[in-house]
This record gives sequence, structure tokens and C-alpha cells, in this order.
Amino acid sequence: MTFPTVEDTAVRELIERERIRQITGIQLIASENFTSPAVMRATGSVLTNKYAEGYPGKRYYGGNEVIDDVEALAIARVKALFGAEHANVQPHSGANANMCAYQALIQPGDTVLGLSLDHGGHLTHGSPVNASGRLYHFVAYRVTPGDERIDMDQVRDLALEHRPKLIVAGTTSYPRRIDPVPFRAIADEVGARFLFDAAHIAGLIAGGAHPNPVPHADVVTFTTHKTLRGPRGGCILSTAEHATAIDKAVFPGWQGGPLEHVIAAKAVAFFEAAQPEFAGYARQIVTNASALAEALVGQGFRLVSGGTDNHMMVVDLRPFDADLTGKQAQAVLDLAGITLNKNTIPDDPRSPFVTSGVRIGTPSVTTQGMGPAEMAEIAALIARVLRHREDEAEIAAARRDVGELCARFPVYG
Ligand SMILES: Cc1ncc(COP(=O)(O)O)c(C=O)c1O
Repeated sequence: MTFPTVEDTAVRELIERERIRQITGIQLIASENFTSPAVMRATGSVLTNKYAEGYPGKRYYGGNEVIDDVEALAIARVKALFGAEHANVQPHSGANANMCAYQALIQPGDTVLGLSLDHGGHLTHGSPVNASGRLYHFVAYRVTPGDERIDMDQVRDLALEHRPKLIVAGTTSYPRRIDPVPFRAIADEVGARFLFDAAHIAGLIAGGAHPNPVPHADVVTFTTHKTLRGPRGGCILSTAEHATAIDKAVFPGWQGGPLEHVIAAKAVAFFEAAQPEFAGYARQIVTNASALAEALVGQGFRLVSGGTDNHMMVVDLRPFDADLTGKQAQAVLDLAGITLNKNTIPDDPRSPFVTSGVRIGTPSVTTQGMGPAEMAEIAALIARVLRHREDEAEIAAARRDVGELCARFPVYG
């Protein structure tokens, strides 16, 4: 054995510090979760040692008989979970999955409809600073000013005007249910393909708490690490018609060797999401989000669109305190052990680095076993810290209460 005998204590100590941060604070980032020990074991396994460019049965290197079984298992499980005709489990991330899907479905320069970034869309839905916006001609649809919900009439009008080759649904900070059916109808009317980016809600779909876009979309992309509670990674589902194009776009189009240790962990997550109790988990995420939303309104906050149907809410801080920015709120809540992120609200007068809002999600606290009673406690803690944001003693006292709440719900035993 030729491994170093000196231990790298620096990294070990950093991992331990982060573990303590995660379990002693309230984790409210809508795109995060606590993954299971089984998922982490697979991610930390010897599968990381293997090169496996290609696909099961068609690899460029030898010694892939076990790896083939790992990847085939992940594919079979995810196809069964979502009822898909084809699956590619190799995308390293949600962003990669989207770029691969575009490459499979359209040509550079083609017109695409996607939700505007500042109204809840993702960077890969055509932001000018992202490759998607540089390679393709994105036209943005927006939420209606009155109710702050996706305006399907506007989507249709824009589709008729611009005749896109692709329509993208799916969001990164939108608190409402997205019905794939009207998107499919508009895509059919204008002869466009339909891509549903289910990055955030994949777990809600798998658990039956939100409608499944797979029967309606040409391609569904998602991340495996958000509500689905798997390892950090991406996945693409498609109809059989697009199977070859999707696989070619992932490898050799965008990626080299797949991360088979992560693919094994995805297989574990798909297994876990197929268990009957996962449906209860998905429902509880939504119930908790509603409870937290209601309690925040009771504390004087305004919620974008008036509430939530999914795992997240976007909070407009201005009615609570006109001077308070999302940036300040995030920083002071961090001091109190409450982790969330600043977020623009639709037509935010402040810049994306400052913002007038924060985004809050319930996947992690739900994994910990918290329920509506704890959501009320969390809303009260958030309001208390923000009201007393200049008061160090009050913030320290809130930090202690946060620690006590988390100690009642130990996530890793
Ligand atoms: C809707 C949506 N698509 C894609 C992504 C990208 O995922 P990743 O960060 O894994 O690249 C995200 C991430 O937040 C997202 O919200």
C-alpha cells in the first residue's frame, strides 16, 4: 500500500465543521436536502476509481461488467419511478442535463421560450451570462403582475409570435404548481418540442405530490439532490424518439467519463424514492411549506403569489420592513444559524446581489422530521432575528433557540 501515512487533518476538520454547521442550524435553502447515509456510502465508494466512457454494453474501456450493472440498475429504477421510456443518468448536474437536452432537441441559434430569470427561471433557461443564452435565442415569458403566476396566455401569444423550436417549463424560484398539459398544447400548436425542467420538484413528482410531466414532455431534466434527496447530480428522461440524440448529447457531446459512484448513489436514491413512505415525505414537504408560509404572513411578511403549492416560498421583505434587503436578511439570519438565500421578487427594484426578497424551502427540515408546529417556531425565529437585527444579544439568544430546536430533530441520529 502506497497511500500517504500522514493524515490530511485539514480537510477532515473542515468536513467536521460543515457537518456541525448543517446539523445545528436550520437549513431552509429550497434546493438542498439531507441525503441518506446509504446515498453517501455509495458516493464514497470504490466506484469512483473506474473509467466508463460510453454506456452499458458499449464502453471504451475494459473491466466495466460491474459498472454496467450499476448504471443499468439506475436507469431501470428511474424509468420505473417516473414512467419514462428512456433515461440517461450520467449528467453531472442539472445545468449539464439542460445543455445536453438542448443539444439533442435544437440547433444553435434556434428560438426557445423560457421563464425569465428574475421571475423564477434558471440561468440555463437563456441567461445571457450562461452558455444557453449564448448558443440559443431565448425569448422570456413572465409571471402576471397581478397574481404573480405564470401567464399561460402570454406563453401562447409569445409562442405564436416567435414560433420557438422548444418551449421550456420548470423553475428555480416559483412557488406554484406547474401544469404540463397547457404547455404541451401550446408546443403542439406551434410545432415546438417541450422540455420540462423538474430540477426542484423531482421529489414531489416521484412522491405523487405534484403532476408528472413525463407523459406530456419530449424531455424531462432534473437534479437528483433537491427534493429527490439523492446525491448531487442530474438526470434526463425522454421519449424513445429522442433516446439516441440524448445519449449522444451527454457523451460524447458534453461530458467524458461518467461519475459511476454518483450514478450508484442515484440508484440508491431512486430506490428510496420508490418506497411507500417517500409519498408521505413528499406530501409533508408541501404541508410544511404551507404552514411556514401561513406563519410568515402572520409575522407581517408578504409572499410572492400569496402563498405556495410546493416546497418553497419567495418572501417579499418590504411590507415587513421597507429598509431590509434580502442580502441583509440572509447575512443576519446566518448569524442566528438560519440558512436561506436572498432572492429577487418579480420586478424587484433592487439588484440580484441585493434583492428585496428571500427564498425559503422545507425539504431539509421535513427530512429531519419537523412538522407544522416547528414551522410556526421557525417563522417566529426568522421574524425575531430580522426585527432585532441590530441587537447582538438577541441574535445570540435566537442562535441558542435554533440550536435547541435542531437538537430535537437529529438528522443523522
Ligand atoms: C430549475 C433548475 N434547473 C437546473 C438547475 C441546475 O442544477 P445544478 O446546480 O445541479 O447544475 C437548477 C439548480 O438550482 C434549477 O433550479
